[in-house]
Amino acid sequence: MISIKTSEEIKILKEGGKRLASVLYEVAEKVRPGVSTIELDELAEKLIKNIGGEPSFKNYKTREDKIPYPTSLCVSINNEIVHGIPSKNRILQEGDIVSLDLGMKYKNLYTDMAITVPIGKVDDQAKKIIETAKKSLDVGIKSIKSGSHIGDISFSIQSCAENNGFNVVRRLVGHGVGYNVHEPPDIPNFGEKGTGLKLKEGMILALEPMVVLGGPDIVLDKDNWTWKTKDGFLAAHFEHTVAVTKKGAEILTKLCD
Ligand code: MF3
Ligand code: CO
Repeated sequence: MISIKTSEEIKILKEGGKRLASVLYEVAEKVRPGVSTIELDELAEKLIKNIGGEPSFKNYKTREDKIPYPTSLCVSINNEIVHGIPSKNRILQEGDIVSLDLGMKYKNLYTDMAITVPIGKVDDQAKKIIETAKKSLDVGIKSIKSGSHIGDISFSIQSCAENNGFNVVRRLVGHGVGYNVHEPPDIPNFGEKGTGLKLKEGMILALEPMVVLGGPDIVLDKDNWTWKTKDGFLAAHFEHTVAVTKKGAEILTKLCD
């Protein structure tokens, strides 16, 4: 069952999304060579608590048989795609790119957001994959219209990534969000226009294109959380939580209207 949120709930999700965006951008400002990934996590957790939220990834389990995710922020560097675990031993290096993914529960409702940023100066290929992943998210969001389908989002994201010379990850997907960290429906980053579920006003969706430079195959690290590209090439990831409205999609995880 896909839940429809009320306008009161969407108002709260918007407040939460705005606060989440402010936290994530503040954490991103601390990204520079020499910083450890645990420092970013600690800052994210502190800022979330300061604004009256709760980190939603910490202790979250994607499956019953899985160890809970240990931290508030996911930090995934270069060939790591998503769900990288922060550590005091992992130090940001000039020239690398890093995905910061953060979820928050605010007044009982969940929002989810991710950005990929360069660490110091990066090469053109790194700049281009970041730009393309961001653009793919933008076109995915813009494809949402009254009466559109999930396949329209998937198709837009995939076309944008592939037309720019990249691939999308197929094993991991975007998702519904709001009452939980992950809710139905799945939102694949590849697909055909006009296919899949029809979108309805009041659905809350987390779109999250994962764009890769090499092949689409991925592997799970021995830490049981971090997804990496199989061929070791770069990945970039962006995510917004959006509300489906009569007029299209409204981004909830943004700083202002
Ligand atoms: N944005 C990520 C996702 O939807 C965040 C989940 S991290 C987890 O998969 F640790 F909580 F699983
Ligand atoms: Co998500």
